[in-house]
Amino acid sequence: MANTVRLGIIGLGRLGYEHASNIHYLIRGAELHGVCSVDVEELIRAEREFTPSLLTRDYHEMLNASELDGIVIATNSQTHCRIICDAVKAGVRHIFTEKPIGMSMDEIDEIARTVEGSPETILQVGYNHRFDADLMAAKAQVDAGSIGDIVLVRIESRDQAGIEEFIVKFAPTSGGFIADMMTHDYDTARWFTGSEADTIFGVGGVFAYEGLKACNDMDNTAILMQFKNGVMVVITASRNSAYGYHAPMEVFGTKGAISIGTHSYAGRNAYMSSEGITRKCASWFFEYWRDTYRAEVEDFVRCIREHDQPKVGLEDGYKAIQWAIKANEAVKHKKVVTL
Ligand SMILES: NC(=O)c1ccc[n+]([C@@H]2O[C@H](COP(=O)([O-])OP(=O)(O)OC[C@H]3O[C@@H](n4cnc5c(N)ncnc54)[C@H](O)[C@@H]3O)[C@@H](O)[C@H]2O)c1
Repeated sequence: MANTVRLGIIGLGRLGYEHASNIHYLIRGAELHGVCSVDVEELIRAEREFTPSLLTRDYHEMLNASELDGIVIATNSQTHCRIICDAVKAGVRHIFTEKPIGMSMDEIDEIARTVEGSPETILQVGYNHRFDADLMAAKAQVDAGSIGDIVLVRIESRDQAGIEEFIVKFAPTSGGFIADMMTHDYDTARWFTGSEADTIFGVGGVFAYEGLKACNDMDNTAILMQFKNGVMVVITASRNSAYGYHAPMEVFGTKGAISIGTHSYAGRNAYMSSEGITRKCASWFFEYWRDTYRAEVEDFVRCIREHDQPKVGLEDGYKAIQWAIKANEAVKHKKVVTL
């Protein structure tokens, strides 16, 4: 491998463009060598901004580019399985894929079979919350025993309210609310507890965007679980937080507790008047998690360079979807499901 890690990106939408910019401008030792999108406007913009050596609408061309050291997949979720499997079969050794890795048990089984048949493949999955500096500091405290044994993990994910038309258009290709949003939180709960869900119960519904009913999807959900090691976990999620993006979390233990992001402040300013004290909220998830998108791809580059295994790999991606399928069942049928 050359000194510089050469990456190709497939998908140049919201996340793809962010990853492309990070690789091009911010990640030392990495080069954005190739870009791919089915959208011509996005390609023109990327060509102007990043002047990549390889520009294509056909992702197979990217997979066959032998000069690449790895690829980043940031296409719509329903394409991930196909592209991951095609990449492994084309001999791509280092793959970073946005979450979720697949949309069904058949898909994640196919990915597992394909990757396991090619042991030299390194697959990193984009559960970016694991690269958040505050979550990492909290996890280090938990591991050091500062709150004793974990009793309860409570995670809330509230996406900023959006325009119904876009939310309803996005839903059918997203894998559904639970797979799309809540697998991040399930992955965080697995990471903190070192365990897996055993018993899952949940409720949810459409409270804000009527059009989601036709897609058989939801906009608000609350899931209660007991993990195999006994820890209780509560995850709630919303697609319509009127005040902005908000993702508080608490880990409660036998000797103390850690709360993370209790209030979702944007910046450090507080405005004081006769009305009281006002602070602005983070406006959307990009603002809140921005540093983690850079950190996860930076670590992908490090793994390529040092022949290391990623922090979030195939097993994590697999477990998250396996859980999402069971959690959907629990919510849709209002019953207790075991994993
Ligand atoms: N980790 C996170 O916080 C986070 C946040 C948002 C989205 N995501 C994930 O990122 C992925 C992309 O989401 P987005 O919001 O950027 O979507 P988007 O619709 O903005 O972008 C999708 C991109 O994929 C391209 N594309 C689709 N099919 C393609 C194909 N066959 N070949 C080449 N290009 C193709 C589109 O042209 C577009 O550039 C999704 O899987 C989503 O779950 C992750």
